[in-house]
Amino acid sequence: MKKQLLALLFAIVPVTAMAAGGASVPHSMEPDLQDQASLQNGMKLYVNYCMGCHSLEHQRFARAADDLGIPQDLVEENLIFSSDLAFNDQMHIAMDRGDAESWFGAPPPDLTLEARLRGTDWIYSYLLGFYKDPSRPTGVNNTVFDLVAMPNVLEPLQGVQELVCAETDQPVAGQSPDPLSGKYQSCDVLQVTQPGAMEPAEFEEAVYDLTNFLAYVGEPSKLQAQALAPKVLIFIFIFGVIAYLLKREYWRDVH
Ligand code: HEC
Repeated sequence: MKKQLLALLFAIVPVTAMAAGGASVPHSMEPDLQDQASLQNGMKLYVNYCMGCHSLEHQRFARAADDLGIPQDLVEENLIFSSDLAFNDQMHIAMDRGDAESWFGAPPPDLTLEARLRGTDWIYSYLLGFYKDPSRPTGVNNTVFDLVAMPNVLEPLQGVQELVCAETDQPVAGQSPDPLSGKYQSCDVLQVTQPGAMEPAEFEEAVYDLTNFLAYVGEPSKLQAQALAPKVLIFIFIFGVIAYLLKREYWRDVH
């Protein structure tokens, strides 16, 4: 009985841990490693908007190009900006770590394993969670990463996002509902107040692609494993039929 109780306890712990993490992560996304167009767009956005600061030390341009079906000449022409980097190199950055730390107050970490460290829901929510905050040195803060040192590099695409007050059905702590409408006033609703180059839905799709790309980078072999899975199942099925026929043959005379 004691053992069973202990087992139950271990079964519950991860659930409560996930519940605690979920509270601060408002959005979720399901990576789709089969969606090559999304992964290609994610890589393009990453190289253009993130690689100035964040390396992908454990990923080579060549491997990514091969996995995502991007020809070598297109990668060399459009995705490798530094003359120090070649097609077979890892996705390093030119910026010195010490310099970066003094400029931003915190060094931009390598993001190869970020999707495995934080999870894709967190990254997706983080990239959607920047809002204007003039009290911060970068002019922005973030709903899932308070006092973040990273500027909102996607602002030209997203526009300026601000926390605004709006009515909500969700109870707000320390507030009683409006007697007429039964609604609460919440002042942490994110709203784009100055449009960027993209519509909000379009921007969410771009952030999805970026996060999808980081999910791929965290586990590149998953893409191959998923491609192999149907072949393995077909093999097991065919082998099963042969094994069954063989069994019938062996047992035919034993009755
Ligand atoms: C101008 C430099 C710069 C650029 C460009 C930049 N970042 Fe950052 N990023 C930072 C810094 C600095 C931090 C560290 C923030 C901190 O610790 O407060 C950070 C942190 C992060 C983190 C959180 C890391 C962690 O787990 O603590 C993620 C995720 C991230 N960046 C993703 C991105 C993505 C995706 C892009 C491209 C759209 C990008 N960043 C572009 C500077 C940058």
